[in-house]
Amino acid sequence: MGRAIFLYFVAILAFWSVCVVKSEDGYKYYTWTVTYGNASPLGSSQQVILINGQFPGPKLDTVTNENIVLNLVNKLDQPFLLTWNGIKQRKNCWQDGVLGTNCAIPPNGNFTYKFQPKDQIGSYTYFPSTLMHKAAGGFGAFNVYARSVIPVPYAKPAGDFTLLVGDWYKTGHKGLQQILDSGKSLPFPNGLLINGQGRMSFNGDQGKTYMFRVSNVGLSTSFNFRIQGHKLKLVEVEGSHVLQNMYDSLDVHVGQSVTLLVTLDQSPKDYYIVASTRFTKTVLAATSVLHYTNSRAPISGPVPAGPTNEIGWSMDQARSYRWNLSSNAARPNPQGSFHYGAIKPTRTIVLANSAPIINGKQRYAVNGVSHINPDTPLKLADHFNIPGVFSLNSIQSTPSGNGANLAPSVLGANLHDFLEVVLQNNEDTMQSWHLDGYDFWVVGFGAGQWTQDSKKVYNLVDALTRHTTQVYPKSWTAILISLDNQGMWNMRSAIWDRQYLGQQLYLRVYNPTQSLANEYDMPSNALLCGKAVGQKRS
Ligand SMILES: *[C@@H]1O[C@H](CO)[C@@H](O)[C@H](O)[C@H]1NC(C)=O
Ligand SMILES: *[C@@H]1O[C@H](CO)[C@@H](O)[C@H](O)[C@H]1NC(C)=O
Repeated sequence: MGRAIFLYFVAILAFWSVCVVKSEDGYKYYTWTVTYGNASPLGSSQQVILINGQFPGPKLDTVTNENIVLNLVNKLDQPFLLTWNGIKQRKNCWQDGVLGTNCAIPPNGNFTYKFQPKDQIGSYTYFPSTLMHKAAGGFGAFNVYARSVIPVPYAKPAGDFTLLVGDWYKTGHKGLQQILDSGKSLPFPNGLLINGQGRMSFNGDQGKTYMFRVSNVGLSTSFNFRIQGHKLKLVEVEGSHVLQNMYDSLDVHVGQSVTLLVTLDQSPKDYYIVASTRFTKTVLAATSVLHYTNSRAPISGPVPAGPTNEIGWSMDQARSYRWNLSSNAARPNPQGSFHYGAIKPTRTIVLANSAPIINGKQRYAVNGVSHINPDTPLKLADHFNIPGVFSLNSIQSTPSGNGANLAPSVLGANLHDFLEVVLQNNEDTMQSWHLDGYDFWVVGFGAGQWTQDSKKVYNLVDALTRHTTQVYPKSWTAILISLDNQGMWNMRSAIWDRQYLGQQLYLRVYNPTQSLANEYDMPSNALLCGKAVGQKRS
């Protein structure tokens, strides 16, 4: 190609991309009011948390890079925040909505979140990060659709269903909090819900293909998902386009989301949609209905059975989730053009969870530190240089001894580091770990104690990236994280009683040179609390 022609093309491309940005990086405005209300998800009426009168909360349908301006009005009797699970908040942890970055919105107060799902696609969720509010509702779906100029590796489905599945208690969020505050662990949940209900119907035409966005919005329990007589084609996992394998059923752990395609290729009747709990002594199940519009018979036959305690089965399935290297995600370049396996980690961090008793009470800890939230959000303390709120490296980067103490848990790291993080679970329970601000490559699962030798089984070619990973009982999971997002980022157990009682920490991704290219300024409407009250906004 001649140079002049080449430049001409570059000019056209530049003009075109400006137009695209103008036409698609639009603004969406929302006002969401949070109140108490009543619902009967398990048959009897109980108090739930509503957003604009809805339980679950409204579905947020957005397009990559759209600007979301969402004014959240708190009409509860307790401070409240929402967090956007898996939305990376690039350079902008100010919008993350957790107690380490934001002051909770007081009763009758409000806060306007302003953020973009930047360079992201996929099925996500939002939920309350404060107290035990998540046990009462306030959660919802957050779907990010690809921009019209970006291809997706599947044909447009005939319809798009959202299934928010989670364990549920008859005891309200205050009652559950009281149990935890008194030093006890939570009892077994009373049920499993799909979209806050006992049974729902999803309707589709025979022969057509539908998208199912399935998320685990529960507090503590993994589930297995399946549809009677139908195969599930996995297409996307938390922003990764995966090799489109077919599954009879899939495990979804707390905080995770998967996107499936299902072709209605069976005879015209109604079929069970089932979610049932995994790794629990008692199995809880929720069923909904897949209804063919030309259906001639109601649901029938036994509810299809799923795996219950099989750990190896689940681990093998997790290993089968692979990045499609030739497919793009939100950006036009193929996912495989980032050769994560060729990067030598700058640091290895081993995080071990434990369940210590501290001051006579049940707590949960990471590397001997059980996190407590100071009155002043860590990010504000950092921003205003307020001493005495947290100390850096209050948590060690490898497990230490047996003791545990209560402290704000902050691990320092440098912007552009490439971390290898080993999640070591020496307990006999399922774990689910989430990191805000990032997705990470899940490169390995293994039984027992991780050692240097464990690296030999890492998938350094086509592991997928996601924001939440499970760690099996008495096992380890290894993840790689490219620290390209400056800020104060919450890394937490997605098992909600565990994070409430201290199994979380903050990763402070820092660069000594302050630059708006790396991190946005504190927003002018940021709420101030604790020792940040009265600080001068710059
Ligand atoms: C609260 O809502 C009002 C509009 O009703 C808005 O002007 C204000 O900025 C909001 N407060 C915060 C802290 O975002
Ligand atoms: C991987 O992605 C490519 C490009 O989008 C697509 O054509 C192909 O079918 C995908 N492969 C699998 C196995 O999903």
